[in-house]
Amino acid sequence: MEGLQIELVENGREMPMDLLLLADPSAEMISEYIHDCRVFIASLNGAMVACYALLPIDEILMEIKNIAVAERYQGKGIGALLIKDAIETAKNLGYKKIRIGTGNSSIGQLQLYQKLGFIQREVIKGFFQKNYPEPIVENGIECVDMIVLERNV
Ligand code: ACO
Repeated sequence: MEGLQIELVENGREMPMDLLLLADPSAEMISEYIHDCRVFIASLNGAMVACYALLPIDEILMEIKNIAVAERYQGKGIGALLIKDAIETAKNLGYKKIRIGTGNSSIGQLQLYQKLGFIQREVIKGFFQKNYPEPIVENGIECVDMIVLERNV
């Protein structure tokens, strides 16, 4: 997308919490992983429109822990661009694989990730019921399990 700039959030700089909370409704969960992540912010004409957070799992595997596009900018291809950027970043850092986890109720996200070459690898049963105090309902479906998808970079 023309004019979209993606930049690493430097150490010690403020995290884009409003965006991160769109992808993960628990500030507590976010605080547990975000400081171990490389966080990238995408801006359009100076306005922050999206972000993603990468967490190294081991020497070969990187995880997209959080990805979010501000509501009014969704559905314009920014999410897909960010995932491609995350794959490229993981590759440039020497990782071989990248994974992403999402809820069983996140139908659009599951479509997006699979269209970009991610393949379902694991189901973490009851993840959302166990880790989130309030039930999460999306698309009329209760979010219960985490679906983990992976691809080579
Ligand atoms: N319903 C149906 N399909 C969707 C949806 C949706 N809500 N969202 C994305 N898609 C699919 C479509 O296949 C679309 O392809 P198309 O344009 O050819 O129809 C494809 O994704 C690409 O869409 P983009 O425009 O690139 O997606 P967007 O810029 O909206 O970013 C994202 C996707 C990041 C999921 C965004 O909608 C968002 O921030 N949502 C709220 C937060 C969220 O759910 N984040 C992911 C949680 S999982 C995690 O963080 C690890």
